[in-house]
Amino acid sequence: MKPHIALILTAAIFSVGHGAKFPASFSRCKQEDGNCLLEAITATFRNFHKGVPEIGLVPLDPLRIDKMDIVQGDGPINIVLNFMKVDITGFQHATIKKANGFTSNPTKMEINLVVPVASLVGGYKINGKVLILPIQGEGASNMTMANCDITLRWTGKLVEKTGKQFYQIDKFKVTFDTSRFYMDFTNLFNGDKALGDNMNVFLNDNWPDILKELKPAIAAAFTKIFESVVGNVFNRVPYSELYSA
Ligand SMILES: *[C@@H]1O[C@H](CO)[C@@H](O)[C@H](O)[C@H]1NC(C)=O
Repeated sequence: MKPHIALILTAAIFSVGHGAKFPASFSRCKQEDGNCLLEAITATFRNFHKGVPEIGLVPLDPLRIDKMDIVQGDGPINIVLNFMKVDITGFQHATIKKANGFTSNPTKMEINLVVPVASLVGGYKINGKVLILPIQGEGASNMTMANCDITLRWTGKLVEKTGKQFYQIDKFKVTFDTSRFYMDFTNLFNGDKALGDNMNVFLNDNWPDILKELKPAIAAAFTKIFESVVGNVFNRVPYSELYSA
């Protein structure tokens, strides 16, 4: 069974723009200027992580997610994990390593970035089994990844809307890897501290196995998040206006 993901982003602005206004300090590049793109996208994460509503860019750090469900139905990990009002932090320190496909007639595009520390912090509810042990609880959680290496790949094409060419995403996919995965769930087992502490130690001791099992579900959640983030900008800004003349 495939992991099932549902999530809702706070800011979904799907308006079609008629020429977008960029902030004065926003750096844009010529098409296919690889080095410029790496720097400009990195600078966007650094300097505009609070969002740029004019171009449909939602706040990236913290990135608020109202609701995200990870349902893992078979195998060694069998859980329903619901997150409520979680913030993902760390993206303002992202470094862009690759930006491919930013051409005049874009089809496949790709961005690879590394986030030194990415944390997902907020409310959770969990029920199920992890490597044979039952797990249950509801409270505050923190899932943190070190050296989170994320690749966004998508396909699409230019389409005409209101007389202008916009890039329309067709398929979008996120993959990621991390050098360390930390988990902290407070108030497990109705607040039984000894049981909860043991479970947190157990989870962190077994992080590679747990990450391996949860990876498709987390990647699917990232896919929804970033498809919405990237799609918002492409829906708002005519494609050629994303670049300097
Ligand atoms: C989340 O966990 C990480 C790793 O243990 C820690 O460095 C960070 O301070 C925690 N964040 C919060 C908000 O508790």
